[in-house]
Amino acid sequence: MEWGMKNRLSQLIQRDGRALFLPIDHGYFQGPTYRLEEPGKTVEPLLPYADAIMLTRGVLRACIDPTKSKPIILRVSGGTSMVGEDLSHEGITTSVKEAIRLNASAVSASIFVGSRYEHETLINLANLVNECEEYGIPVMAVTAVGREMEKREARYLALCCRIAAELGARVVKTYYCKDGFDKVVRGCPVPVVIAGGPKVDSELEVFEFVYDGIQKGAIGVNLGRNIWQHDYPVAMIKALRAIIHENATPREALDVFSQAKNTGKR
Ligand code: 5RP
Repeated sequence: MEWGMKNRLSQLIQRDGRALFLPIDHGYFQGPTYRLEEPGKTVEPLLPYADAIMLTRGVLRACIDPTKSKPIILRVSGGTSMVGEDLSHEGITTSVKEAIRLNASAVSASIFVGSRYEHETLINLANLVNECEEYGIPVMAVTAVGREMEKREARYLALCCRIAAELGARVVKTYYCKDGFDKVVRGCPVPVVIAGGPKVDSELEVFEFVYDGIQKGAIGVNLGRNIWQHDYPVAMIKALRAIIHENATPREALDVFSQAKNTGKR
């Protein structure tokens, strides 16, 4: 692997082989998402605990202080909206030149396997990899499901992750599933990070699926709403950090959460 690629990947994946990515890119198709109406304010107290942030160029330029940033995973696919016809109809919205100008450590694009636009999104990914490899920029593929959250089961996720890796993604972001997640990771020859999905009811539930996902081979998370839509986002990210970087169990993470909740700021 060339120096530039290796260097960028090391900004994302830490020396322990683990990673905590914080995505705030949801507005690219959802608009001003709950508790992400002002992304700069949402992310500011969380930045010290994230290994990288994932966002679009618009929010990066407008809301993130370039002198106090974290490694950037630039979302470069889009072109759809919640009220449009088909969330899978994504194109590449941001050039690799722009990613370089913004000093991105990686770029990310969604693939929608099994959707009407499967082919287009897979070719988007392949073309992006072709261009990014020229400059040593890793591509993180996002195995997206659009509105069809029920698709999140092992056979489908394994298919998506493997295809993403075969097309050249250096990291793959996918959903966790209770049954067969080890097979999803085993079938993917590049590192896998877990996406959160919609906010779940309890903190322990989040800690349990992240912990289990890591035991089954994921290197960490790319987790947004379950952190910043929580009433205590700083406590959440501290607890997740303990699982990812300190091998805390879900119960230990809950203790970290409770302590941070009682002593820290929201
Ligand atoms: C949106 C994304 C998000 O980055 C991803 O879904 C992770 O965020 P969350 O944990 O809120 O699901 O790619 O398409």
